[in-house]
Amino acid sequence: MRNPQLNAKGELQHLLTTEGLPRAILTSILDTAEPFTEVAEREVKKLPLLRGKSVFNLFFENSTRTRTTFEIAAKRLSADVINLNINTSSAAKGESLLDTVDNLAAMQADMFVVRHAASGAPHLIAEHLANTGKDHIHVINAGDGRHAHPTQGLLDMYTIRHYKREFTGLTVAIVGDVLHSRVARSQIHALTTLGVPEIRVIAPKTLLPSCVERLGVRVCHDIHEGLRGVDVVMMLRLQNERMQGALLPSPQEYFKSFGLTPERMALAKPDAIVMHPGPMNRGVEIDSAVADGPHAVILPQVTFGIAVRMAVMAMLAGVK
Ligand code: CP
Repeated sequence: MRNPQLNAKGELQHLLTTEGLPRAILTSILDTAEPFTEVAEREVKKLPLLRGKSVFNLFFENSTRTRTTFEIAAKRLSADVINLNINTSSAAKGESLLDTVDNLAAMQADMFVVRHAASGAPHLIAEHLANTGKDHIHVINAGDGRHAHPTQGLLDMYTIRHYKREFTGLTVAIVGDVLHSRVARSQIHALTTLGVPEIRVIAPKTLLPSCVERLGVRVCHDIHEGLRGVDVVMMLRLQNERMQGALLPSPQEYFKSFGLTPERMALAKPDAIVMHPGPMNRGVEIDSAVADGPHAVILPQVTFGIAVRMAVMAMLAGVK
């Protein structure tokens, strides 16, 4: 069966997940993003690659970084950007997701950027577009439930490659609420495909999916053991909005056992980098001294996110 993200020629048709994406496509996205970094950093103002195209941002869940950087990325490629305000749209009157999609497709959309609390919503839209003869419209998953957040995973890979040059030879630690994290899943699939030999997940048992080792990671329940000698530390937010029942004694207890402090960072390699997808809970998963300290590359991640999202949209439109 064909990968639903690729067209018959093996080119990117939709971006729904990093799982199953060939290494060549992942690398091509990162390579395509390289020159766009100049646009992200405003050394070059704008490019005409998406002139005449309409990009619809459909965010059914809150966002600061992803929604804004998609808008910036599309505008810097000269696309027309339409931000649907879900709270004032007909979705608030009970219109179904697919009816909303059909109506926006009738407005000659070229791309849908979709964030949704339900895992699988972007897949459903892509499938619906194919079934209704509208598969010229591209779907980009901007985060669905606890399933996937592929552009976050890709901008994280871009950040790692920027600071570490190569993936082979790295030891990467992912720390925190893996159970509820779409970011962690997208990171693990991308890191594995790009050849990172050692991926550690550091979390309490209650915040790990069962059989997580099957994803090719090593589990550590002790942060001191997990951080020893790592090149990259990827922090995760406690996803309180997706937790059911009491999975942790308290945020203070969590910080005591799993919070990233300068003392714990000293166990990593001296040139290790610290990443966080945001939004951060300071004093819960990360100490401010680390978040704002010399190892942190958290704000560069956001800028690289513009370049990576430009690359994804340019590749989908076939104009890179
Ligand atoms: N990293 C991330 O998805 O942040 P936002 O929720 O602000 O988009």
